[in-house]
This record gives sequence, structure tokens and C-alpha cells, in this order.
Amino acid sequence: MSKDNPMSELLKWYIDSGVDVFLNELPVCRLSQSVVPTSQEKNTETNQRLFQSESPPLKPRKLVSRENSLETASNSAKSALNLGDLRERLEAFDGCPLKQTAKTLVFGAGDPEAQIMLIGEAPGAEEDRQGEPFVGPAGLLLEKMLNSIGLSRNSVYITNILPWRPPGNRSPSDTEIAACLPFVQRHIELIAPRIIVMLGGTSAKALLNRSEGIMRLRGKWLDYRIEPLNTLIPARAILHPAYLLRQPAQKRETWIDLLAIQEKLHETR
Ligand code: URA
Repeated sequence: MSKDNPMSELLKWYIDSGVDVFLNELPVCRLSQSVVPTSQEKNTETNQRLFQSESPPLKPRKLVSRENSLETASNSAKSALNLGDLRERLEAFDGCPLKQTAKTLVFGAGDPEAQIMLIGEAPGAEEDRQGEPFVGPAGLLLEKMLNSIGLSRNSVYITNILPWRPPGNRSPSDTEIAACLPFVQRHIELIAPRIIVMLGGTSAKALLNRSEGIMRLRGKWLDYRIEPLNTLIPARAILHPAYLLRQPAQKRETWIDLLAIQEKLHETR
């Protein structure tokens, strides 16, 4: 790319900032009552092409306060009777803005009767495309990690704290995590696993309501509390496979955690 061309520079800046999908060629005011293009906008040559192939305009969004959104999430999630119902409720939930930028809802995968439930952070680009958790490069490593202790992707249940991909794989905000947390909590209740494995610090901190980083939370058994039943589930935080891809020297620590998980599975059988 030429250094002198301002458009190339702008594109490079977008790529460096993590923008990998263009949703539209025109800016859209999400706060206006309607996002239908004006006739003037439609009449330029490029836009005629664009609007001919465009999907129906987005529905205007109602602005909701954080408290309202948390209450709605909590009420909706608590009433979910089964996994299908929970999925439908998430699809109908408008309290997390990531839904607007993600392509698909990534709900969960694996055996709903599994003894072990793995919970990651949020979908990446490949997960967003396929609608399945952990199907990208981190997923391939996760599968190898599971295989190493006699498990497979199909013998466990996998989900994420957030069901929608944050744009450019940025870290999810506390508000986004809080908005989606009641759904993950209900997800855990419905799967009722014997062991929970939290993949990475975001998952561990959100589920355990702790502020320490992953290096302090890993390496020991902790308790996940199912509030309405006051039941405790043994929970283990391990390093996120995406982190292990960047820091392979840390695989040694994770091997210790994996062996502890294998031992606990045999104990609880
Ligand atoms: N990282 C996650 O935390 N979850 C996924 O589904 C993929 C990558």
C-alpha cells in the first residue's frame, strides 16, 4: 500500500484497529427514528448499486437504561424452561449492543448431558461466521487439550460468557458482560454440569464475581454457586487457548490444570 495515499493510510488504520467487516458504505444514525436512506442518498451511482442489493432497513432501536436492561435480561433468562427456550430468549434480547454488529448468535455446542461444561469469553471471527463456539484456531487447540485427557468436543458442553462477537475481537466491556450474565447463569443451571471449566480470566472473573487475574485464579479448585438452589459446582479456571497459542511456554501450567480436571471427573463419576 502506498504511504502517500490517504485512502490506503485510512484503510491500514482500520485494519490495525481490528475492523474487518464493512457493514455499510454510508454512515447510519442509529438514534434517528428511521434508517431508511433518503432519496438523495439513493440517487448517487454507487448507492443505487448498493441499495438494490441491500437487506431491509434496520428497525429503529429503543434506548433502554442499564438497570432496565439488566432487569429484562434477568427476568427473561430465569423464565427459560429449556435450552431451546433460552436460545429464543437470547435471540429476542436487545439489551446488549454487540447483537447489532455480530453476524450470528453463538449459543453453545456439544452434549447437553455432559458432566463438564466449558465457558469461554466471546466468539471470534470464525465462530461468528459459523454460529458455533470454539471453531477457529483457539478451538483447534482446545480440542487437542480435551483429547489429551480423554475427552472430545462432543463429550463436553461449550459456551461463552457473551453470545455475540465484539467487533474486531476487542475485549468485552463490563456492561456487555453484565447484560449477558443472567443468560450464562441460566445456561449453567439447565446443563447442570458436575464440573465447570472457565477458559480465561474474563470467564472466571464474570462467573465467580472475582477481581483477581487468571494467574491468581488458575491452579486450584473454586466454587461456582447456583444462587436459587444454593448449590456449589467445582470450577477450575485455566488459561485461554488463544493465550496459549501466543504463549506456548504456558502450556506446562495448563497441563497441570488439565490433569486435575481429569482426576476430578473420575472422582465425581
Ligand atoms: N474464544 C472464545 O473465548 N470463545 C470462542 O468461541 C472462540 C474463541
